[in-house]
Amino acid sequence: MPQTAPNPGVLGVSWVRTESPEQHPEECLRPCPASPTVTPMHAWVDGSLLPDPHARAVRVTDHGLTVGDGVFETLKVVDGRPFALGPHLDRLERSATGLGLDAPDRDAVLAGVRAVLDAAHLPLGRLRITVTGGPAPMGSGRGDEGQTITVVADEMPPTAPSAAIVTVPWPRNERGATAGLKTTSYAENVIALAHAKSQGADEAVFANTVGDLCEGTGSNIFYVVDGELRTPTLASGCLAGVTRALVLQWCGGLEVDAPLGQVATRADEVFLVSTTRDVQPVLRWDGRTWAEPGPITRAAAATWAEREPEGYSL
Ligand SMILES: Cc1ncc(COP(=O)(O)O)c(C=O)c1O
Repeated sequence: MPQTAPNPGVLGVSWVRTESPEQHPEECLRPCPASPTVTPMHAWVDGSLLPDPHARAVRVTDHGLTVGDGVFETLKVVDGRPFALGPHLDRLERSATGLGLDAPDRDAVLAGVRAVLDAAHLPLGRLRITVTGGPAPMGSGRGDEGQTITVVADEMPPTAPSAAIVTVPWPRNERGATAGLKTTSYAENVIALAHAKSQGADEAVFANTVGDLCEGTGSNIFYVVDGELRTPTLASGCLAGVTRALVLQWCGGLEVDAPLGQVATRADEVFLVSTTRDVQPVLRWDGRTWAEPGPITRAAAATWAEREPEGYSL
């Protein structure tokens, strides 16, 4: 059984050893903040904080594991406090009910959030909440044993100052049953991001089935044409990003759909927004490059930096 070794560490983080005590029993009990084998990650599953966050903890029949029947949220954490918790919990509920699952038990989710954040003390991190259909028979039919709820907190590197993006050949289906829902069926995003990375880029961008600009694998996209800030509408099939909504509220901008090819060639400025990227200028899109972020992008990033502190709670 893996064991934990609480240790305040250089950043005040409680480190947890991930090595097996069977292999190195004495080392597993020795705090070692500089070692790559320690992690500030903490995990909570269905009411309990796991002694080892890497332990196998979800049943092999879980419908999230077997068929991707689940929903999730990723939140940014600064100094142990989550950003935009309310909007993320609201979207978790919308995604679950959109999938035909019951609305997750908000008190249970909050208990998990508190447990991992209290344990982790993250200066900068991310929180992942996942709710699945729970144990079920093999196949697409659901079981009746109740949902699985997991909450994981881990550290996160700071956002890179800019991004390179690549258009991928696979469309987002804006008319599909899961359009606009944040489900655990993210394999399309995994393939698209791997494609972007193979081209030396940081994010992939999708058009939808009619060729309009949609979104990235884990981000929404804004651009400037004729001095006007624009972003695809939710009807494009993109996720209703929490960051997207706040950028629209704080910076303004027009929600409008346009062919991806037209945007990629005409836009004077482009930026990505997401929980993990905040407002991130795009300086390369396929074969096109920009020398530096434009004035509207810089203004949006400055507004974000100024107003973001309003969104932390707990
Ligand atoms: C497909 C997709 N689009 C957009 C976003 C951005 O949403 P948010 O700003 O809520 O992080 C995400 C978040 O991961 C996403 O998965």
